[in-house]
Amino acid sequence: MRIVSGVQPSSDILHIGNYFGAVRQWIDLKNTNNECFFFIADLHALTEQIAPEELEKRVLSIAKDYIALGLNGPNCTLFLQSSVPQHTQLMWLLTTSAAMGDLERMTQFKEKSQRATKEDGVNAGLFMYPLLMAADILLYQAEQVPVGDDQFQHLELTREIARRFNYKFGKGGFEFKIPEPYISIIGGRVMSLTDPSKKMSKSLGSDSYIGIFEDKDAIKKKLARAVTDPEGLKNLIEIYTMVSDPTDEADLIETIAKKYENKFNVLKEDLASKIFDYFADARSKRAQITDEEVVEILRSGMNNAQKEAQETMEKVNRVVGLKKL
Ligand code: TYM
Repeated sequence: MRIVSGVQPSSDILHIGNYFGAVRQWIDLKNTNNECFFFIADLHALTEQIAPEELEKRVLSIAKDYIALGLNGPNCTLFLQSSVPQHTQLMWLLTTSAAMGDLERMTQFKEKSQRATKEDGVNAGLFMYPLLMAADILLYQAEQVPVGDDQFQHLELTREIARRFNYKFGKGGFEFKIPEPYISIIGGRVMSLTDPSKKMSKSLGSDSYIGIFEDKDAIKKKLARAVTDPEGLKNLIEIYTMVSDPTDEADLIETIAKKYENKFNVLKEDLASKIFDYFADARSKRAQITDEEVVEILRSGMNNAQKEAQETMEKVNRVVGLKKL
């Protein structure tokens, strides 16, 4: 099966929400021999204020995380979105199959435009964001897209745009595959440690999330401050099951809840160790990876992705009537 997904470099780390919401499924799909395309959505990141040198640093750091987690290899193309110009090319063609009203309805657009400061205003990139995402997916004729549940709406829109495009141009002998979302029931929405009514996100401040490669002390401190109202507790216990053995009875939600009833501090201590240990192998692998290796892997990913992307682009150009010279 053809799999496509990406993560924005909104900081230089992946947090456990990104991991359990999306990246863990990427690893499973890669290990079960699917044909995977995973990328760093550096063009999407430009919709937020970010210093150029900071963006470059984050991209390298996140790429290193991916490689440490094993997300490269013969059936797994790892690349930078910006290194494949066909993404923005296809995005333009998709703008004409999308309605303004659809884009205005997107929850992420509404939230992000509310947060925009008076000086910066709402940039048009935030509005067009889902169209670039649709291009990311359709360009590779993805069949499944593993994401957290906050991206579901964008995927629905991608499907809708693909259907409209196929309806308009399908007679020309090319159609986009309609991609299916692949969303984990547990892990699809990891909540913030400081405000468990919101999803874990880097934008809520550093105490609200745990980076997958943070040191044990930092994880302990963040968990010590984590809210333990019923919602917060439920979140902590769910995270506990995510870093536990799914086949072990002792690690079921009910058993964990009972074991730590009224012992929240012990729960937090044990959870900190479990999270730290869960990522131990990848953490030590990560320490061995050089920047040069990262660049080499991304370059080979770029070549592979460009080849695929160009094939689709030529077909798309043909069916919409753009003359090939
Ligand atoms: P981004 O960078 O915000 O998040 C990356 C992935 O992590 C998931 N995620 C979560 N899952 C569970 N709980 C959370 N608290 C949590 N926070 C984040 C996201 O759902 C996502 O799967 N627009 C995308 C990036 C993107 C993309 C694409 C994804 C660009 N093009 C094409 C798939 C296909 C984004 O900003 O994700």
